[in-house]
Amino acid sequence: MTTQPPHPSRSASHLLPRGEKGFSRRTILAAPLALAACDRFASAEPSPPNVPPLKSIAPAPFGTAIKASQIDDPDWVALARANVSQLTPEWEMKMEYILADGLERPNFDRSDRIAAFAQAEGMAMHGHTLIWYAQGKEAFAGLSGAAFDRAFDGYIAAVAGRYRGKVRSWDVVNEPILDDGSGMRDCHWSARYGQDGYILRAFEKARIADPDAILFLNEYNQESVPAKGAQFLKLVERLLKAGCPLQGLGLQSHLWIDIPEGVIAAYMREISQFGLPIHVSELDCTLRTENRLDMRSQADRIAAQGARVTELASAFAALPRAQQFAFTVWGLRDTDSWYRQGDKDDGRDKPLPFDSFGRPNPIAAAIAAGFKTPA
Ligand code: XIL
Repeated sequence: MTTQPPHPSRSASHLLPRGEKGFSRRTILAAPLALAACDRFASAEPSPPNVPPLKSIAPAPFGTAIKASQIDDPDWVALARANVSQLTPEWEMKMEYILADGLERPNFDRSDRIAAFAQAEGMAMHGHTLIWYAQGKEAFAGLSGAAFDRAFDGYIAAVAGRYRGKVRSWDVVNEPILDDGSGMRDCHWSARYGQDGYILRAFEKARIADPDAILFLNEYNQESVPAKGAQFLKLVERLLKAGCPLQGLGLQSHLWIDIPEGVIAAYMREISQFGLPIHVSELDCTLRTENRLDMRSQADRIAAQGARVTELASAFAALPRAQQFAFTVWGLRDTDSWYRQGDKDDGRDKPLPFDSFGRPNPIAAAIAAGFKTPA
């Protein structure tokens, strides 16, 4: 059995034509086959659980990812008003959108629209993300030396400066650690400033551009892959020692159903020892696995999902109040999820708290159960 789930593309998928984004070809072929096979044994879907509005039971702000187009969807807006108090732009505040027309012509229309919506609704906003290994390569291609520095510093000054007073916090750097936890990623940023150097520089510039925002380092699978978690903790130690204005730690929490029991809770206890605010920043939990011989029913998958999500929510609820920054899901309805876009969509995955009609999914009940029983 694989230890990690099928993962949607981490590339600038919105800029690719349909069909190029998402799971590997192998997964696209395998997942529906495996799930179709389970289907024959699955019982009818149970009725949706009763779950109070999530923001009313969360120990901290409850957030969701947002795409600007969702502001035009009254069903989405109603669901967001009822359940969330914080928004993270899913992709329109990243270089993939802001720099789509190049460094000289930044596009802020959609992130401005999201910021205005947040303000009008009285919701907080979390900025995501300034510097990411996966983005900006094309826009910065051809720059070197002082010109590269001006573009790097200028980007952070322009973006973080524009949203000063409008965002509560920023993911300054996203995903600096290698998947297997063996070390730091090399990328177009580290090529110029070094593996820790680009992170230090980004935080310094963000601090200057927005002295009031809480500055986060954000990473996935640190809570679920022990080697990666250990590497993340070492990085945080080095950064703090070097005087980096790092103020918060983002655990993306893109979970899957085969994470061994106890790993998430143990990691939460470990990382809390820095005393910094913790953001569960992108929670979702796919029901899919890469193992095509996995014949578990949908009901069994949902039970496994619930156990992992309750473990996470309960570990978050057990943190000291001052360290509970926010608990954010990576979309509200299954059909909003990056797991359910284009070729990635098997039509059956239920990674998010609400179904396509906005009715609570079992995962919403699992979040509520975790909040209720801190552990
Ligand atoms: C994903 C978005 O969901 C997609 O819409 C986007 O095109 C690519 O990125 N880690 C992150 C998020 O920090 O920004 C990613 O979001 C998911 C993984």
